[in-house]
Amino acid sequence: MAVESGTWEGVDLASLASREGTPLYVYSAPAIRSRVGALRQALAGLQAGIRYAVKANGNGAILRLLAEEGAGADIVSGGELRRALRAGIAAANIVFSGVGKTEEEIVFALEVGIGRFNVESRAELDTLQRIAAARGKVAVAAVRINPDVDAQTHAKISTGRAENKFGVSIEEARSWFSSKAAWPQVRLDGLHMHIGSQLLSLAPVREALARMAAFWRELSAAGHAIASIDVGGGLGVRYRDGEQAPDAAEYAQAIREALQGFDGKVLVEPGRWLVAEAGLLLSRVVLVKPGQSRRFLVLDAAMNDLLRPSLYEAWHDIVRVGGAVGREEQAYDVVGPVCETGDTFAKARLLPRCEAGDLVAILGAGAYGASMASTYNSRPLVAEVLLERGRHAVVRKRQTFDAMIAEECPVTEWIPACAT
Ligand SMILES: Cc1ncc(COP(=O)(O)O)c(C=O)c1O
Repeated sequence: MAVESGTWEGVDLASLASREGTPLYVYSAPAIRSRVGALRQALAGLQAGIRYAVKANGNGAILRLLAEEGAGADIVSGGELRRALRAGIAAANIVFSGVGKTEEEIVFALEVGIGRFNVESRAELDTLQRIAAARGKVAVAAVRINPDVDAQTHAKISTGRAENKFGVSIEEARSWFSSKAAWPQVRLDGLHMHIGSQLLSLAPVREALARMAAFWRELSAAGHAIASIDVGGGLGVRYRDGEQAPDAAEYAQAIREALQGFDGKVLVEPGRWLVAEAGLLLSRVVLVKPGQSRRFLVLDAAMNDLLRPSLYEAWHDIVRVGGAVGREEQAYDVVGPVCETGDTFAKARLLPRCEAGDLVAILGAGAYGASMASTYNSRPLVAEVLLERGRHAVVRKRQTFDAMIAEECPVTEWIPACAT
């Protein structure tokens, strides 16, 4: 593989690390473009729209690249909405998901004219009605169905079971449609679902689609016009060499089969699938520590930079960058310097023998990597670069210490409690 031999997209990774420092998020522009193209091709024939889930990676340069390729956005906060708009994504191509949209966020989204609210509760529907009425606007909405399907993924990223906080039951959604007149400023003409992330089997997707399709047919028969069906995101990727993940064509075929006869807009909200494998986290070995019972490879990257292994026990392939030839393999616990035992990227991982100063790449880090990063242990946010045919561009500067603490202030004044 190119990364192991030391280059990616024609860029020498050792020189890149020397110039930009480590840890460093590195993304491939061609890899992202090729994913969008493959998905678009797979969905051909459907009146489909891609609404990229900004949470996967909200870097402005990546959003701009996706916007140029024609993708819209799925957002879950006012901040993500601002990012999407700033990247040139048309408001009409933005959908707003999330169980806890605040009034402020709803007002902002209505004012800029977003395409659709994916409504997740009766309380949210009431709020949307009230805010839209007060502004003389009509909010376009879809109901997020919780189809009660086991997505067969990690519990923390499973969202389509009855016990999960997301969406409403089909029974509740049915009552919304039959009482539509109660929300005259809301045009409720869409269905939405998202059953979970990193789905490696299409069986749960098919099951959920079948439930949603049956509901759409029932609503149509009852005279409700359904203009849009949003099937969510979730398509899984290969984090591990040899792992099987569904391909876009199979996924699109499952959508096509379930929604046969639907002549409205079909929306998809992939995040991970578009960007995960297009990114890696480049890190330098700080030291090798022979522990009492394990050999630790201590990197300069840590859980605050890439949280997935700590949070989900997620596997990422890790490779030594360049010069592996002739080095025997050793088993390492690959860890970061943060003061948590959970700051572990891999256990007993076989790698060509490593020394302090070597570079390693943690693969599949383009999604839910930088976007989930924090400054825990007072470690500034790392830089991000985009690669394109032998060149790179810095798309996020490394945070300075001063920037990291800029919003903190000493006590200069105690504000008395307000009288009630
Ligand atoms: C509503 C919604 N849509 C889309 C996504 C994107 O999921 P993925 O990155 O697995 O495609 C998520 C992820 O949590 C989500 O909550």
